[in-house]
Amino acid sequence: MRLDKLLSETGHGSRREVREIIRKQRITVNGSIAAVPEMQVPEDAEIRMDGVLLEKPGPVYLMLHKPAGYLTAVSDRSRPVVMELVDEPVKDLAPAGRLDLDAEGLLLITNDGKLSHQLLAPKNRVPKKYYVETDRPIPEGAAEILTNPIEFQEFTSLPGIYEKISERSAFLTVFEGRFHEVKRMFHAAGCEVTYLRRVAFGPLELSDLPKGEYRRLSREETELLKQCVSNQHNGV
Ligand code: URA
Repeated sequence: MRLDKLLSETGHGSRREVREIIRKQRITVNGSIAAVPEMQVPEDAEIRMDGVLLEKPGPVYLMLHKPAGYLTAVSDRSRPVVMELVDEPVKDLAPAGRLDLDAEGLLLITNDGKLSHQLLAPKNRVPKKYYVETDRPIPEGAAEILTNPIEFQEFTSLPGIYEKISERSAFLTVFEGRFHEVKRMFHAAGCEVTYLRRVAFGPLELSDLPKGEYRRLSREETELLKQCVSNQHNGV
């Protein structure tokens, strides 16, 4: 990668600022003063600023409160996408999994493709907890249906954890993340979902993060995420 790009993408200033730093000969690459901002830097190069070794950029983990109306995608021809809400000088960020266009809530965004893949693998059974509102009172037998396997055409859902809140609202925790899973489970239980918000993803909780905003995960949250796939101990 180009030296100026690398320095600015790792948080050492705007492109203009890092060029200035390079011109002032404050940067060395593998022990030699970096002469030009455009120089190509090998991936394993040792880069120092004022003699201090720069940390290699680690993976980045963000939690976004996705608003309805945004597609869970990196780009789209006509519709707004969730990545437009993220302004980070980091390459290759992408949503881990998806929420429907009309759904809201916790979306993990990362450039750690390996962890993302592990979190989404149905076999790892990472819990996802949703707040749901329905078009009519949730039928009497819904709890029984939602907490048992439901046979759909292409898959059988695992039993969910159902917590009724009121006549027309509930929490449902699911463990696989199949396409339209929550909406289809409620449909099978005899009502339609009119509002859907993901409130937890594995050990992460949306809490009071405002809609449309994002934050970096703390080191502790990142560790918990990694543990939840390594131990398969996924308690919400
Ligand atoms: N289940 C759904 O039906 N939709 C989502 O966006 C997520 C889970």
